[in-house]
Amino acid sequence: MKKLSTMILYKLKEIISGSPRRQLLKMMPKRSVCAEIGVWKGEFSREILKIVKPSELHLIDPWKYQTDFGKRLYGGAYAREQQDMDAIYSGVVSIFKDNKNVVIHREFSDHAAAAFINNYFDWIYIDGNHYYEFVKRDLELFYPKVKKGGFITGDDYLWTSPELKGDLPIKRAVDEFMVKYSNVRIRVMRTQFVIEKILP
Ligand SMILES: C[S@@+](CC[C@H](N)C(=O)[O-])C[C@H]1O[C@@H](n2cnc3c(N)ncnc32)[C@H](O)[C@@H]1O
Repeated sequence: MKKLSTMILYKLKEIISGSPRRQLLKMMPKRSVCAEIGVWKGEFSREILKIVKPSELHLIDPWKYQTDFGKRLYGGAYAREQQDMDAIYSGVVSIFKDNKNVVIHREFSDHAAAAFINNYFDWIYIDGNHYYEFVKRDLELFYPKVKKGGFITGDDYLWTSPELKGDLPIKRAVDEFMVKYSNVRIRVMRTQFVIEKILP
């Protein structure tokens, strides 16, 4: 029952936030090199393929059951053990098996970042661990990996959870990032943020 309600909530979120996400994808350069951090079942990855037609799409997710995050899909709210995450991973592998431009990295985002040279991506989409330190780290680690003129984008800008007592960790991390760097500008479209690395 709990699994079902979590699924329904997740689907509802997809429907509600579907339009700004699609709007974001329409803003991204066609045939670009991109990455999605936090892939889950690959539903948004399919949208990326359909709308952006990237030359390379890197899918980054450890598909790890993480008990430290019991309220999240990958820590107990949906997956109940590692086998569930393994099954989700296998599903993603199967969905994209014929897409030569899709590279799957079964890794935490901080490890995956180290594998890419600077200025590698035209754009990235951050939708992994939503807690403050993780979002801050994703922004910092992937910032040099995105070309000037490229985009650091992500989901759930206004996300929170009852245990956070009103904190908006993604907004906090993104807003601090915007203060720290001067060569960036941001556009927020409801749930979605798009940070552009401005050309000098
Ligand atoms: C909200 S889901 C992603 C949803 C997906 N982007 C979509 O729209 O269909 C979050 C995902 O982040 C992954 N994740 C959790 N911690 C992570 C980390 N440190 N690095 C990368 N991915 C992480 C989880 O395994 C989970 O699949």
